[in-house]
Amino acid sequence: MIVPANEPPSTAQRRMLTTGGVTGSPLTLAPRKASDNPPAMNMSRLEKWFVNRERKAARNFERVRQRLGELRIDETRDVLEIGSGTGGVAARLAEIYRMTVTGTDFDRAQIELARRLHPETERLRFRVEDAAALSFADESFDLVVSQNVFHHIPDWSRAVAEIRRVLRPHGHLIWLDLTFPRFVKKLLQPIARGYGLYTADEIRGAFRLAGFETRFAERLIHGPLVHHHLVLQRPRR
Ligand SMILES: C[S@@+](CC[C@H](N)C(=O)[O-])C[C@H]1O[C@@H](n2cnc3c(N)ncnc32)[C@H](O)[C@@H]1O
Repeated sequence: MIVPANEPPSTAQRRMLTTGGVTGSPLTLAPRKASDNPPAMNMSRLEKWFVNRERKAARNFERVRQRLGELRIDETRDVLEIGSGTGGVAARLAEIYRMTVTGTDFDRAQIELARRLHPETERLRFRVEDAAALSFADESFDLVVSQNVFHHIPDWSRAVAEIRRVLRPHGHLIWLDLTFPRFVKKLLQPIARGYGLYTADEIRGAFRLAGFETRFAERLIHGPLVHHHLVLQRPRR
């Protein structure tokens, strides 16, 4: 489903994004304060066992492949994947589409595993990076891919700002993640420190505030879990 660019956020949405529940503004990167969310944490062994399956990487790549079919991929050269895990998506993009791909993950062990599974080449590299504080120069990438990562990032609004910063004008973001109903977010907030918690309205509002235009939006229901799958585009300036 291709959806038109959204309306600008309402005053209430702006207030929610800059004050309630969200650390910092998605448009600016204020210095981290002691009261900010805790830094991201590495996943437990159980979480890794669940997410590091090859079948999952193949499914994730298939989703990206479908979206790329709808974009003008001939202009896509430099790709950044955040939270690339075992590297299956990054490696396929480099091999099949011959894009230059940088897979990044907060967890050094994940990066080491990705390098073992998919040896680095001229077109494929893996780096330890925090999505909320990327080391790359402004406007370095044509495409950013982020699947199932934001709910691991306490300062997820900083990651929104960072993705916008490193994307070139007209660059795309292919994004997929869990979103939480407001009451679930409220219930989890005291116990889920170290995770990113946001409603669908908050995440979409944050992307809109950061200037992204929505090119594709899909809501996926997996039992009690709701995922949002988005393709967003950074306007020219
Ligand atoms: C649930 S896994 C998803 C992996 C893969 N993208 C997928 O969909 O299967 C989340 C990944 O994000 C990484 N991660 C967590 N916090 C991060 C952060 N702040 N910056 C970059 N990566 C992060 C984790 O180490 C993990 O590899």
